Amino acid sequence: MPSSKKLYVKTYGCQMNVYDSERMGDALRPLGYAPVDAPELADVVILNTCHIRERAADKVFSELGKLRDMKAARRLEGKRMQIAVAGCVAQAEGTEIARRSPAVDVVVGPQSYHRLPELLFRAQAEGRTVLDAHFPAASKFDALPSRIATGQGPAAYLTVQEGCDKFCTFCVVPYTRGAEYSRPATQILDEARRLLALGARELTLLGQNVNAYHGVGPDGAIWGLGRLIRRIAKIDGLSRLRYTTSHPRDMDDDLIAAHADEPKLMPYLHLPVQSGSDSVLEAMNRGHTADDYRRLVERMRKARSDIVLSSDFIVGFPGETDGDFEATMALVREVGFAQAYSFKYSPRPGTPAAIARKQIADNIKTDRLAALQELLAQQAAAFLQSSVGQTVDVLFEGPGRHSGQLIGRSPYLHPVHARAPQALIGKISSVRLTKAMTNSMTGELLSAVAA
Ligand code: 5AD
Ligand code: SF4
Repeated sequence: MPSSKKLYVKTYGCQMNVYDSERMGDALRPLGYAPVDAPELADVVILNTCHIRERAADKVFSELGKLRDMKAARRLEGKRMQIAVAGCVAQAEGTEIARRSPAVDVVVGPQSYHRLPELLFRAQAEGRTVLDAHFPAASKFDALPSRIATGQGPAAYLTVQEGCDKFCTFCVVPYTRGAEYSRPATQILDEARRLLALGARELTLLGQNVNAYHGVGPDGAIWGLGRLIRRIAKIDGLSRLRYTTSHPRDMDDDLIAAHADEPKLMPYLHLPVQSGSDSVLEAMNRGHTADDYRRLVERMRKARSDIVLSSDFIVGFPGETDGDFEATMALVREVGFAQAYSFKYSPRPGTPAAIARKQIADNIKTDRLAALQELLAQQAAAFLQSSVGQTVDVLFEGPGRHSGQLIGRSPYLHPVHARAPQALIGKISSVRLTKAMTNSMTGELLSAVAA
């Protein structure tokens, strides 16, 4: 296969985008594109964008300015550079991108990545920006080439659902990624087998609202995520399973039970709550109260006593009072999170909350975010500190920071560095945790366990 053509993909945002970037690489590989790590060397540059928070579009336009200059420089050398913008910003602002940045050759929404080869070809032939951004979710999964070795390593990602029907009032996902779509279980099982054959030991099932999964099973019945997890767990060679991102309302009984009786399902759950105030949760259209969330956490801990929780929070949502914010702090203190993401509310055009009247002043958002982040950082540090002295199974994923070290993940997803031979990459080993750093742990290798 010729591989004289070079591809550079810059990925912004979430794991879904990391996964999509790999799939775009897969789509272009049959045409002879091999990855390079500098845009100025590339024949095709793809910006895989994320729209979920502030200033995403600004960043893209500033990056496009730089690429335009590189493209002009390459042209002077008689070389080509095609620029494609993919991802949610492409979906939401495609026309604006084509208008403001004529150097862009292709604007492609998340549902059309399988068409990239054709779109690049058409852009070149027609000498204009080609746009393709609409929502036929199923055809994308059907048409992309099956997974090729992408250097994903021992911990691989597998998209099982896309899009979202929840319409939280702050969120662009239902508009940019479209309606909830679940892949048929058979397709997912095939892809899981392929990833395992390529050396993966751990799979993380991905979806914007992954636990809303309701795909057709091989038996023709609709399978929920719990059922899918139990089936995937049976595949030979798989040691660990995870999934992200979940909505509290979609944690059904079967999925909770899977945490109790499926040992391959790791004791870590990213379960965004966004706020601890019922009136804010209501205005966000979350469909649950703070107490619903507390009860859910209790059930999760009953199912799996060592489960650790992670969450997302938004401060300064329109109408949020000091009391509402205090309710968030109280919920955090009560539940305890090992890890969390927190953001200032930022109005996303086209979402209901963006036109709410009681927008919160930025200085108030800044103060609330600082207070919340301090509390979350204390909890994260306390969690790592409490792990010192424990022995955990670590799946080594690659070389660590220092020579002779490897880095891997504990069941609780914290990164662990330990001195270990290269041969243990891709294997699960027993490690005693000796020291907590800011976001990771150091440990001593005890032994390699069969995995
Ligand atoms: N402003 C701030 N944070 C947001 N998120 C999503 N939309 C917004 C917004 N408009 C956060 C939520 C979500 C995470 C992926 O990003 O917390 O769970
Ligand atoms: Fe956005 Fe998640 Fe709400 Fe869906 S559930 S609208 S993806 S925040």
